[in-house]
Amino acid sequence: MSESEKPAIGVIGVGWVGLVTAGCFAELGHPVWAVDIDERKVAMLNAGGSLPIHEPGLPELVEANRERLHFTTEIGEVLEQARLLFCCVDTPPTYSGDADLSRVQAVVAQLPAGGEHALVMKSTVPSGTGRTIRRDKPDLTYVSCPEFLKEGTAVVDFMRPDRVVIGADPGSEDAADLVEAVYEPLGGQILRTDVASAEMIKLASNAFLATKISFINEIAVVCEEVGADVGEVARGMGLDERIAPGFLRAGLGWGGSCFGKDVSALKKLAANSGYHFQLITSVIEVNELQKRRVVGKLSKHLGNLVGKQIALLGFAFKPHTDDMRDASSLVLAARLLGEGARVRGYDPVAEHRARKLLPSVEFSDSAAEALDGADAAVLVTEWPEFAELDWGEMAVRMANPLIVDGRNFLDPERMRAAGYTYEGIGRASSGTR
Ligand code: UDX
Repeated sequence: MSESEKPAIGVIGVGWVGLVTAGCFAELGHPVWAVDIDERKVAMLNAGGSLPIHEPGLPELVEANRERLHFTTEIGEVLEQARLLFCCVDTPPTYSGDADLSRVQAVVAQLPAGGEHALVMKSTVPSGTGRTIRRDKPDLTYVSCPEFLKEGTAVVDFMRPDRVVIGADPGSEDAADLVEAVYEPLGGQILRTDVASAEMIKLASNAFLATKISFINEIAVVCEEVGADVGEVARGMGLDERIAPGFLRAGLGWGGSCFGKDVSALKKLAANSGYHFQLITSVIEVNELQKRRVVGKLSKHLGNLVGKQIALLGFAFKPHTDDMRDASSLVLAARLLGEGARVRGYDPVAEHRARKLLPSVEFSDSAAEALDGADAAVLVTEWPEFAELDWGEMAVRMANPLIVDGRNFLDPERMRAAGYTYEGIGRASSGTR
């Protein structure tokens, strides 16, 4: 396919997934027509300059492909230009824990009858959603193509996918062929399957990754009891190709926009058909406890936390993003404030979002400022700049050089040599000088 022949791509919903999808398809040479109901966001994207989200590499991509990228609030323009419509609206959890499909339903309602367009579902939806949509709108061409992008590396993940899952039921195979053709240049393994299985692959993949993390976090607790080092244990486990090394980093647990939502949606999906998914229930519980255990690690050294000044290093749910959804810092800050501590913190990019969610926390302009006079620090997000701090100088700034390294990010020996009482997560000599 030469560049001039590349079909136009429609993107519905210009949130994080939509904007990455739009930018990357434009980079591949497709004209992209992207629609969002948020007028301010569309105006911001059309004006150029900073993007509504922080994602490494994306501003450069959007800027370089401005001519091919069209942002609008009118879905009619997108329908006129593109046959493939990638649905990227969000599906947040409802109070019941099920996925809220109202935005997906609103998109479907706007599509004209006649089957000229194909809806390509990127939004994460419970298994069975595609079937329900097609039952209600039988002439709709529908393809499931779940996204597996990670925040912070989304552009690279899009351009070099491990696999692309394309689910289509009878009657939608032609559209699935088109989707396969647009992904083909990226070289990932393409899996063609039915819609329900494609939907399930997404939920099961995220639930499995969350399970790996909760598993290693429980192993970390046992490591502390028996004097083993969870990093060494994970390394040894990961060498077995049946286990694989990824997602075995012990820490404060998983957060972000996907894991909590998808794990809960899978649990509810099972429950709705009468099945109690015990393993997933425990995975969620372990993740909850993981953040709370930090309070115990602090109290072990400080006793009562009333009036103690605690510095949080990092607010975002992981580095290289400003996303605060389900961030460990939210639970941690609330617990510390609940114990009567004073909480101050710093994050290189997430402060603007964190401020709205953490009104009782004091915000600093640098890690050094957050650590000034602190009785203890908790490393919450493994931002590279925290590894580069002059920890010797920081020890002098702190009232008491105690650190809980919630991501096992710092070198315990170096920290101890710099005068710290160091507590990691599941590290052999946690707590000893
Ligand atoms: C995840 C999935 O990886 C991705 O495929 C899906 O499309 C969206 O959800 P994301 O939420 O961006 O991506 O982040 P990810 O890198 O997967 O990390 C999720 C959370 O798990 C973070 O809070 C991270 O700190 C934590 N994590 C990850 C661990 O605690 N230990 C690990 O070993 C890996």
